[in-house]
Amino acid sequence: MDKPLTGKVALVTGGSRGLGAATVRLLAAQGADVAFTYVSSDEKARAVVEEVRGTGAKVVAVRSDQADMSRAPALIDDVVARFGGLDILVNNAAISPEQGRTVDDPDADTAALDRMHATNYLGVIAVIRAASRVMRAGGRIITVSSGLGTRVGIPGLADYSATKAGVERYTMGVARDLGSRGITANVVEAGLMEGGMEPPDPETLKAILGSLSLQRVGRPEEIAAAIAFLASPAASYVTGAVLDAHGGYNA
Ligand SMILES: NC(=O)c1ccc[n+]([C@@H]2O[C@H](COP(=O)([O-])OP(=O)(O)OC[C@H]3O[C@@H](n4cnc5c(N)ncnc54)[C@H](OP(=O)(O)O)[C@@H]3O)[C@@H](O)[C@H]2O)c1
Repeated sequence: MDKPLTGKVALVTGGSRGLGAATVRLLAAQGADVAFTYVSSDEKARAVVEEVRGTGAKVVAVRSDQADMSRAPALIDDVVARFGGLDILVNNAAISPEQGRTVDDPDADTAALDRMHATNYLGVIAVIRAASRVMRAGGRIITVSSGLGTRVGIPGLADYSATKAGVERYTMGVARDLGSRGITANVVEAGLMEGGMEPPDPETLKAILGSLSLQRVGRPEEIAAAIAFLASPAASYVTGAVLDAHGGYNA
């Protein structure tokens, strides 16, 4: 396999499972040294590390809570100390609690929603700020959003959608701020995936799938491929872009 990312150092947030794990595998297969974060799944993180090391690639897992903004500088320092620099940041870690609860629902767990805002929005900003200070020329920042970042489409997802729209706009600002250093910043809007976050209830799921051009859920590997493209030398002139990998939710 061609290894276009040889010599590059990547950090993938939330790499212990789902799309993050698929991205860790793919970037490592393409030659990058990869660090990834997680928050609680020690065993899953260890399994991803063992599997990827088995291919001969360099990979480390770092337990680091993205909801705590103060952790970000130490996380980036850790990656640089282990691998000597940073070239690619994939902002993937996110949560989606309380799906289906409308904003006027008195039983909504607002503390869980607040933690989501801290994880999906403020935590992403903290990691981008810390990473951008050390990222080398030619660097890549790729933020994983959702089709819901552009169009909410269904009730019960106001908070989640707002976090995704927020990080999308932030990433556009990052593209403007870091372009003069040769660093690109782009968004991948993912769609419903096999084996990822808890899916919506069956009726909502059916409605969403029916509205997709491709009429099916995606595989994490299909979305990781879009991320890997933006990380690759082939995407050197792509910045401030949103790449839709959601089966045609907005088509
Ligand atoms: N799944 C979908 O259908 C779908 C659809 C559209 C967009 N997306 C987006 O795609 C991305 C990946 O989703 P996924 O379904 O693959 O997620 P997932 O399977 O639920 O995995 C989430 C990952 O994020 C980590 N994480 C969660 N909270 C964290 C925190 N506070 N600090 C550090 N790491 C944390 C988890 O670590 P632990 O294992 O330790 O908990 C795990 O590695 C997310 O940005 C999501 O919004 C997903």
